[in-house]
Formats: sequence, structure tokens, C-alpha cells
Amino acid sequence: MNLFTLKGRSLIVTIVLGAVFVAGCERPGHDTVQRGYRGLAMEGVYNPRIVDRKLQANIPPEPTPPVPSDGPKASQVYKNLQILGDLSVGEFTRLMVAMTSWVAPEEGCNYCHVPADFADDSLYTKQISRVMLAMTQRANEDWQAHVGDTGVTCYTCHRGKHVPEYTFTKDAGPAMVAGLAPTGQNTRSPTVGYTSLPYDPLTPFLDEANDIRIIPLTALPQGNRKSLKQTERTYALMMHISDSLGVNCTHCHNSRSFFAWDQSPPERTKAWHAIRMVREMNNQFIEPVAGILPDTRKGPLGDPLKVSCKTCHQGVYRPLFGANMLKDYPNLAKRSGAAKAETGEAAPGSAAAE
Ligand code: HEC
Ligand code: HEC
Ligand code: HEC
Ligand code: HEC
Repeated sequence: MNLFTLKGRSLIVTIVLGAVFVAGCERPGHDTVQRGYRGLAMEGVYNPRIVDRKLQANIPPEPTPPVPSDGPKASQVYKNLQILGDLSVGEFTRLMVAMTSWVAPEEGCNYCHVPADFADDSLYTKQISRVMLAMTQRANEDWQAHVGDTGVTCYTCHRGKHVPEYTFTKDAGPAMVAGLAPTGQNTRSPTVGYTSLPYDPLTPFLDEANDIRIIPLTALPQGNRKSLKQTERTYALMMHISDSLGVNCTHCHNSRSFFAWDQSPPERTKAWHAIRMVREMNNQFIEPVAGILPDTRKGPLGDPLKVSCKTCHQGVYRPLFGANMLKDYPNLAKRSGAAKAETGEAAPGSAAAE
């Protein structure tokens, strides 16, 4: 074998392997799980190696021992509490310690506090944390239709990091030759599972509230805009959702009709509520405080880092495989203080609204 063919072969191997990685393919050895009635091909396809890795990455931290809820209230001891005043001093301190380990384990209390005066509000991280507390309590109390009893804590999204690993901002698209504007698609993007579908379906659907439909309700066009473009954007969002949860389309749809709700598994209804919950998180909590965020917490077009399905789910059908951390931190389960006053009404689909 001369040098040329050797080089030629290794080039081919490189191209093939490259293509496999670029396309996001996985080496075979997959398990198939039947999820629907037999014959419907409603299957989930899992790669045991990846499932293993995800199990390792999603072990929740040990809770600290519980403390009594009686004794003096935090508001009697501290000066500047807008949300957590009703907690006992013990519960309050325990929650501060937990929040530190969930969001800023390395910096400690000083990530949010000026050491000389804990009542001082000058750090933006402390101001944002109030909003985050309100957002977390709101989800747990009013979006039960989505988060169930499993609920969410700061850890669900943050996992020991200042900013959750998966957030989104408006996507400016790839850099283009002068004079050409990006088309909004036809470039592989991790947001949409490395397909060349529209690379920013999150802004129109998880920040703005555009209709997520491709099937018109009438035979002839009657002012509906169910166009090819809208179809592509809908599929792009669905790719994001599947990727965020690590599931196939059939987790939520019967593929004989993606449209029909009465043929869809119940998970689709859960996802419907999720979409509304995520929009609310972005519109009512994160965007209103964008003004106090530093530029490093904003995207290239100046909008803040926002919540998508992946922010909580991180590739798993239930965040942390359904581990219930909330039961160990009941103070995050109900809206309290200013959080209650600000978001008075019940969320659509919540037990209270029904
Ligand atoms: C991720 C941000 C964050 C971290 C980290 C944090 N705190 Fe706080 N802390 C807050 C927020 C937000 C408030 C105000 C809560 C409210 O308005 O109800 C607060 C309030 C306080 C107060 C009340 C001050 C006053 O007089 O009003 C004390 C005391 C306090 N924290 C102690 C701690 C301690 C001790 C630590 C470290 C173990 C800590 N905090 C870590 C966000 C944080
Ligand atoms: C649903 C997901 C989610 C939950 C739950 C959540 N956060 Fe966040 N958090 C975010 C996102 C997204 C950002 C980035 C946007 C921003 O900075 O406002 C963020 C930013 C922050 C920041 C700013 C950090 C920095 O360095 O800029 C702090 C502090 C913070 N969160 C604290 C908390 C605390 C405390 C809790 C629990 C009470 C919490 N978060 C719960 C999604 C979440
Ligand atoms: C986690 C659940 C979930 C997964 C996974 C999922 N979808 Fe969806 N899908 C939904 C929900 C919920 C809606 C309706 C959204 C709404 O009305 O706000 C929807 C709507 C759709 C529609 C529009 C139907 C209409 O009414 O016009 C199509 C098409 C669709 N999905 C295709 C897909 C495809 C293809 C995949 C896999 C790539 C997929 N979905 C994965 C939950 C899911
Ligand atoms: C604030 C965190 C959070 C966000 C953001 C979030 N989810 Fe969830 N999701 C949860 C929790 C917690 C559960 C578990 C609920 C339970 O145990 O009943 C869950 C469960 C689900 C389930 C049920 C899965 C099953 O097989 O039981 C679906 C489907 C789902 N989420 C879809 C979505 C979609 C789609 C999005 C984005 C539009 C999304 N979620 C965003 C927290 C979140």
C-alpha cells in the first residue's frame, strides 16, 4: 500500500467520522421502548450509554436537615425582606445557605450581599434573586398543571452555576457576507437539533405568543397564516422540545395525526401548559428586570438570557429524573410576601383557575 492510498483512506475515515459527529448521529446500540398501543409505532428510542451519562449528571444534592418553623419571624429580626419575611429565622437562614450552594457555591453569601450590610440591595444579583424567588414560588403554586408535586427549586435550573447552562436569547444568525441578511434558517443549529430548520423558534413561541399550529381549521384559507414558513418554525420548536426532554415526537404525539389532541398521549397536555408557563417566566419575570442585568447577561441583540424547556429539563423527560427537591424546601412551594401581591391572578390551567 503506498502512501497515497493510506492518506486517501484516512481522509475518507475522517470525512465519515466528521459527518457522523456533525450530523449529531450516535453509534448504534439503541433500546426501543413501546409507549403506545401496539402497531402504532409509538416508540421511544434511547441510547443506553447516553441514558447512563444523564443519570450521573442528574443526581440532586443532599438536602440540609430541616429546621423548626416556629420561633421569631425573619421579618422581626431583619430589616429589608420583601418576600421571605414570614419564614422563621431558622428556615430563612437554611434557605440562604441552600440558595448559596445552588447558585454561587464558590463565592458564597457575597455573591449577592455586600458583606458589611446584608440589608443593602446594591448588588444586582440580590435584586434578581428576589425576582427568581417570586418566579420559583409562582411556578410551584400556580403552574401545578406543569410542574406537579415534583416542583422546582433554584437548583432545577442553576445546578450550582450563576446562570443556568441552557438559556436562550434572540439569535442573530450566522455572520454573512456584507450586503446579505441571514435567512433565519438553512444553517445547522444546536437549538433545533442540528437540523437546518429556522434556528430561532424560541423567540416567536417561548417569548412571544405566536400560534403553534400548521393545520388550518378550515379547508380553504380564511385569513389563516398556516404557511410553509410557519410549518418550518413549528417543526423547529418541536425539535427543541424533543431535544430538551431527550424524547422522540411520539412522547407527546400519535404520528398518525400530530394535530389531534384526543389521540395524543397526556404528556402533550403537560407540554401545552409548559409553553404558557415558560412564556410567563420570560415576560413577567425576566424581561421586566433586564435593565439591571449587565451586558454579559444579555444576547448579541441586547435581550436578557431567557428560560426555554432545556433550562429545567436539560435533556431529561422530567428534570432531575423527577427527583422531588421541593418537599425538602417547602418555603419555595407557596408564594409569599411581595410575590403574592405582584402576581395576584391564578395561572391558566392551574387548580385555582379551574
Ligand atoms: C443568590 C443570592 C443570595 C445569596 C447567595 C445569599 N443571599 Fe441572603 N438574601 C438574598 C435575597 C434576595 C434577600 C432578600 C429576601 C427578601 O426580600 O425577602 C436576602 C436577605 C438576606 C438577609 C436579610 C438582611 C436584612 O436585614 O434584610 C440576611 C441576613 C441574609 N440574606 C443572609 C445570607 C447569608 C448568611 C448568606 C450566605 C450563607 C446569604 N444570605 C446568601 C439573596 C442571597
Ligand atoms: C426556571 C429556571 C430558573 C429558576 C427556577 C431559577 N433561576 Fe435564576 N436564572 C435563570 C435564568 C434564565 C437566569 C439568567 C437571566 C437573568 O440573569 O435574569 C437566571 C439568573 C439568576 C441570577 C443572576 C446571576 C448572574 O450572575 O447574573 C441569580 C443570582 C439567580 N438567577 C438566582 C436564583 C435563585 C436564588 C433562584 C431560586 C430562588 C433561581 N435563580 C431560580 C433561571 C432560573
Ligand atoms: C413534550 C411534548 C412534545 C414533543 C416531544 C413534540 N411535540 Fe409537537 N406539539 C406539542 C404541543 C403541546 C403542541 C401544541 C402547542 C400549542 O398549541 O401551543 C404541538 C404541536 C405540534 C404540531 C402542530 C399541530 C397543529 O395543531 O397544527 C406539529 C406538526 C407537531 N407538534 C409536530 C411534532 C414533531 C414532528 C415532533 C418531533 C420532532 C414533536 N411535535 C414533538 C408537544 C410536543
Ligand atoms: C421551571 C422548570 C421547567 C420548565 C422550564 C419546563 N418544565 Fe417540563 N417539567 C418540569 C417538572 C418539574 C416536571 C415533572 C412534573 C411531575 O413530576 O409531574 C416536568 C414534566 C414535563 C413533562 C412530562 C414528562 C413525563 O414523561 O412525565 C413534559 C411533557 C414536559 N415537562 C414538557 C416541557 C416542555 C415542552 C417545556 C418547554 C415549553 C418544559 N417542559 C419546560 C419542569 C419544567
